[in-house]
Amino acid sequence: MASNLLAGKVGIISGALNEESIAWKVALKAHAEGARIVLTNAPLAMRMGEINKLAEQCNAPIIPADATSMEDLEKLFSGAQEHFGGKLDFVLHSIGMSANIRKGKHYGELNYEWFQKTLDVSALSFHKMLAVAEKQDAFNEWGSAVALSYIAAQRAFLDYTDMSQAKAVLESIARSYGQRLGKLKKVRVNTISQSPTKTTAGTGISGFDAFYEYANRLSPLGNAPAEACADYCISLFSDLTRYVTMQNLMHDGGFSTTGISEEIVELMSKANS
Ligand code: NAI
Repeated sequence: MASNLLAGKVGIISGALNEESIAWKVALKAHAEGARIVLTNAPLAMRMGEINKLAEQCNAPIIPADATSMEDLEKLFSGAQEHFGGKLDFVLHSIGMSANIRKGKHYGELNYEWFQKTLDVSALSFHKMLAVAEKQDAFNEWGSAVALSYIAAQRAFLDYTDMSQAKAVLESIARSYGQRLGKLKKVRVNTISQSPTKTTAGTGISGFDAFYEYANRLSPLGNAPAEACADYCISLFSDLTRYVTMQNLMHDGGFSTTGISEEIVELMSKANS
C-alpha cells in the first residue's frame, strides 16, 4: 500500500530492462509513492523497447545513457534536471554486466579486457554518476544515491568471477563518495546487498539455480524477492533514512549471518544416508 513516502521528490532510475529487473519494480513503486522519475538505460539495451511500457506506466521520459560514458551521463543529469525544473532527490544505480560471466569463463581464465569492462560498467559507472552529479550540483540537500550489490563482494562465490571484484569496488565507492557528498551536500550514498534474484543479470550466472536454492534454504526468511528490494530502495530514498549513509545494507533474509539451517542439515543428512 502506497503512503506517499516520496511525495514531491524527483529522481533518476537506471537499469530497468524488463519486468523482472529490480529497477523496474523500483520505478513502479517510486511512481506509486508520489515521486516523479526519469528512466535511463544503455542505448543498446533499449532496442528491445520494453522500457517504453514502463515509461508509459510511470509517466516518465527515457534518457538513454551508456553508464560508462561521461558525455552520456552529463546529458542524462542535465536532461533530468531540465525535465524536473530543479535538482534531484534520488538516483538508483542498478547496472551490472560481465562478458566473462556471459561467455562462461572460469576464474582462472578471465579475459582482462573484459575484466576492465566489467569494472567500468558495474562499478566505476557509479563513481561517474556521482562525479557528474557533483559537477552539475545536481542533488538537493538530503538527497540519496543507492546502488545494488551482492555478497560476493565479501565472500567467495566461484561462478561470480570478476563481478565479485566489481561489487567490492562498488561498495567502496559508496563509502568514499558518501563521505564526500555528505560533507558537501548532506547527500547519502549506500549500497544494498540483495539476495540472488531471478532477473536477466542473475540467471546469466552459471549455477544460478543451485545457489539461489541454497541461499533460499539457508536464509531464515528465505531469499528477499525483487519487490522487497524495491521497497528497501524506496525507504532509502525517503526522509525516514536521512542519517543512513556509507553503508552496505544486507537485504538477504538473514543469509549473511547464518551458519547453517535445519533445511541444509536435512539435505546433507539425506545425502549421507
Ligand atoms: P537486469 O539484467 O534486469 O539489470 C541489469 C541492467 O544493467 C540492465 O538493465 C542493463 O541494460 C544495464 N546495463 C548493462 N550495461 C550497461 C551500461 N553500459 N550502461 C547502462 N546500463 C547498463 O538484472 P538485475 O538483477 O535487475 O540487476 C540490477 C542490479 O542488481 C545489478 O547491479 C546486479 O548486479 C544487482 N544484483 C542482482 C542480483 C541478482 O541475483 N539478480 C543479486 C544482487 C545484486
